[in-house]
Amino acid sequence: MTGSRQHVWRLLPSASPSAITSAMLRILPLNPESLAIAGREIRAGRLVAFPTETVYGLGGDATNGAAVAAIFEAKGRPRFNPLIVHLPETGAARAMGRFNDMAETLAARFWPGPLTLVLARRPDAGLSELVSAGLDTVAIRVPAHDGARALLHVADRPLAAPSANRSGNVSPTTAQHVADELGDAVALILDGGPCPVGVESTVVDVSGDTPLLLRPGGVPLEDIETALGRSVPVAGVADAIRAPGMLESHYAPGLPLRLDAGHANPGEALLGFGPAPDATLNLSEAGDLREAAANLFAYLRELDRPDFTGIAVMPIPEAGLGRAINDRLRRAAAPRE
Ligand code: TXA
Ligand code: MG
Repeated sequence: MTGSRQHVWRLLPSASPSAITSAMLRILPLNPESLAIAGREIRAGRLVAFPTETVYGLGGDATNGAAVAAIFEAKGRPRFNPLIVHLPETGAARAMGRFNDMAETLAARFWPGPLTLVLARRPDAGLSELVSAGLDTVAIRVPAHDGARALLHVADRPLAAPSANRSGNVSPTTAQHVADELGDAVALILDGGPCPVGVESTVVDVSGDTPLLLRPGGVPLEDIETALGRSVPVAGVADAIRAPGMLESHYAPGLPLRLDAGHANPGEALLGFGPAPDATLNLSEAGDLREAAANLFAYLRELDRPDFTGIAVMPIPEAGLGRAINDRLRRAAAPRE
């Protein structure tokens, strides 16, 4: 921490430390020095906002559950939506998601660029479960922006990065937008000027036999259809209204979940939070919500086995990341149609 701060002072030669506001401190022009700092921040589990050709992203190490949890915390998201994993090239993407012919065609045609592919996730991908919000798919993008690519190389980590805005706000296309949105939540903002595309990437689900457009964006649908030689159905507003949440096919365990439980009934596993000597697994003995968020989906999967009749979950405070944790737990506990 102190080491990287000292670097920052040197990059701002004319101002004395006391005269520099924290906002000034955190925005650095994108250059080899700031990239080196950013790489260290990412490897240390902290968050760096960076430019891409579409919008600014709020990046964290996608293999580090606590860093991914910090992303949700910084955005103030009341829910865990799956995040896009950014990688430097298609080879790295093949190691994390399964490529069928459609995925190969689209990657060859549009990567690097403003296209995100939703792929079946490899079990050995080495990514945090929270990145995919517990789903067995993963969204991957190989960005074209030189600054984003340089950061991926210097950080040497896959970067989980949603748009760097507070939840519910529009995506930022300048470093100043990011500073206005995220305040102190981000360790560093790399300023690479305005984003050339200005709208988010196009998201296409190619995890199954038929492609599905999940979000229109920087690559026009027509171009995707031309590349694939077929029409691509659009996951529309009408679908979302008919079946809320269907676009994300939320992960839910097979066993019934009992929330706000003080203890386990006979046969139940106990998923603890805070001090709980009887817990089968504990989301965070210290009662730390970031640690709990990082463990949530992995632990639910681990307890979802026939040795138990159900999963009793101890109360989680309804504040900060606790709201997103409780949202997912309530969805997972809701009776299925
Ligand atoms: O242009 C962009 O895509 C920017 C830059 C920073 O790369 N990122 C971005 O991320 O817009 P975000 O988190 O704001 O939007 C990601 C979208 C969401 O609509 C999310 O639901 C979808 O991608 N998504 C991510 N993973 C998914 C998955 N496994 N299945 C379905 N949808 C997924
Ligand atoms: Mg967004």
